[in-house]
This record gives sequence, C-alpha cells and structure tokens, in this order.
Amino acid sequence: METQIHGLTEKIADARSQATGQLQALSSLGDVQEWERAWLGPKGEITTMLRSLGTLPKDERPVAGRETQALRQELETAFAPIRDRIEREALDARLEDERVDVTLPGIDPQIGAIHPVSRMIDELVEIFGQLGFQAVFGPEVETGRYNFDLLNIPADHPARDVWDTILVDDPTAEIVMRTHTSPMQARTMERIDPPVRVIVPGRTYRYEAQDASHEWMFTQLEGLAVDRNITMTDLKGVLQEMARQLFGPERRVRFRCDYFPFVEPGVDFAVDCAICSGKGCRVCKQSGWLEMGGAGMVHPNVLRGVGYDPDEYTGFAFGLGIERIVMMKYGVDDLRIFNTNDLRFLKKFATAAVS
Ligand code: DAH
Repeated sequence: METQIHGLTEKIADARSQATGQLQALSSLGDVQEWERAWLGPKGEITTMLRSLGTLPKDERPVAGRETQALRQELETAFAPIRDRIEREALDARLEDERVDVTLPGIDPQIGAIHPVSRMIDELVEIFGQLGFQAVFGPEVETGRYNFDLLNIPADHPARDVWDTILVDDPTAEIVMRTHTSPMQARTMERIDPPVRVIVPGRTYRYEAQDASHEWMFTQLEGLAVDRNITMTDLKGVLQEMARQLFGPERRVRFRCDYFPFVEPGVDFAVDCAICSGKGCRVCKQSGWLEMGGAGMVHPNVLRGVGYDPDEYTGFAFGLGIERIVMMKYGVDDLRIFNTNDLRFLKKFATAAVS
C-alpha cells in the first residue's frame, strides 16, 4: 500500500517536473498546441493518470485523486500566461508581416465615359423633348414593307437601289438590315392616331465601301410630326431650333430641293458653319454650310398607307446622321474612328465634350 501511494506521488512529481520543464521551452503556436494535447487534453497524461486511479485500492483513491487534480490545476495555471504570450507574439508577427502601407499611391482605375454618339443621342432627345417630340425605338432588322413599300418606294422602283441594302437570309423574303430609321414612320403611325410627334434615334446599315465619311453601320435620327395644318414653316422652325441648341443661337438653316420618295416636296437641309460663321473653313470645306440630312412634307401615299386621310392631315419628316453632327460639332474628320475602340480618341473626345 505504502509503495503504491509512494509510487503515485513520485509519478506525479515526475510528471510535474517534466511538464513544467517543457512549458519553459515552448516557443511556437505548434508547441503550445502540442503541449496542451500531451498534458491536459482528453487523451493527455493527466487524464490517463486520473483514469488509472481505479486500479488503486479504494482507500488510496481520494488522496491520489486530489493530488492529480492539484497537479492539473497547477499546470493549467502555469500554462495559461505562456500560451497567451505566445499567441500574442504570433499575432503580432503576422500583423507585421501583412502590414499594408496605406500611404502608398494607388493604381488609378480606368474610368469609362459615354460614347460620343450616345452622348449626342441624349442631347438630341433632350432638345426635341423640349419641342414636344417623344423618342421611340424600332427594330434594326426590318421587312421590305416597312423599309421601302410603306415609304412609297415600290418594289420595281429605281429608288429602291439608292439604298445599298444588306439582306438577311433568303433574298425572296426581303428581310433587311434597315437602311434608315424612316421605317419607324409607318410603324409609329400604324400604332397611334394624330397628332404624332416622334424622333427615332438608332443604328442603320448599308452595304457600303468604307471611307472617311462612309460606314456600313451608322446612326440616324428620324423625326416625324403629323397633325392638322402642319406646314413647311413648322419643319423649318423645328430644325432651326435644333441647330441653335446644337451649334449656338446665331445659326441659320438652309433648305434646297432634293428628292426622297416619301416626302413631297423634299429638301436637304444645312446649317451655316458655326466654326467660321459661314465664311468658309476646313470643317465646312470652304462652303460655309454643313449638310445635315434630308427632310420634307410627308408624301400623301405614306399617310394613306397607314390609314391616315391626307386631306385631313399633313406632316413633316426629317432624317439626319448623328455621327455627322458629332463630327461637325467637334471637328472630327474621320467617321471610322467612332467604332475602332481607340481609347486615345475616345478619352480625348470625352474630355473635349465635357468642357
Ligand atoms: N431616310 C433618308 C436616308 O436615309 C433620310 C431622310 C430624308 C429621312 C428625308 C426623312 C426625310 O425623314 O424626310 O437617306
């Protein structure tokens, strides 16, 4: 009996000196975990000792139990501050390691800008909005009926060839990439009764050899007003107001006779050059005038085609190229640059347009 108790006391003393000795040598987080597992963990030395108490004679168990528990207490108390210190040191080292110098200059993000053509569309929608026009949008893939027939361009009419049309799929079905925004004239009038006052910004397509002023895809703005007693004076007033808002209050508008099957009379219209006030310069190619597009009084056949009575209603229509306006306003001399995604151009342009 004596010996067994004695044996246990020795065992406890051994464990104490071993455990506390190791404790002093701990230096890493790994050491800490290892030590805790070996001595205090569920499979650690102390637990094993407590478990083995059952093998002692009954009357020795309480003493042995108390001493083992006392050792556990002692070890826990000694361990806690050492563990805390090592954990704190490890955290400090990690923070030091991952230190970020927030005073270093950052990398400038690339900031996008609205494309010059989109910006011009916004400007035009705003200008015409003030004049009572609503912006509507239509399909870029059209039928021959809307792109031509309802615009008074019958199938066998030579004018059909004026537009170098890109056909989609089967030529007999005559599904086309719209060659102009004019098809939205009929689409709009079919949907609503007069008064009609709409503008149609959008992309148009032509089978075209590309050069500085021709692209196979470009953007137009169509305008249409139909009501009782609409005259060419209204057309001129509206276009003049647009020119003033775009190019300044002094601007004048010029009409010259022109032919488009869907208007009668038809005109082309130009604005006197804002850069040289009509004297002649590089931008207006010495002519003093900037050609903007076509216009006229809606042809009676077009009105009839959508079920409007041409004796009751009259209207005007116009169409212009949006890229052209941007080019005139900002002195850009090559149409192709709008779609080449050249950031140098787009950036320069974005700043120029803002100022
Ligand atoms: N759609 C014509 C074109 O692209 C432009 C045009 C001319 C539109 C006269 C009109 C207009 O509305 O009245 O060539």
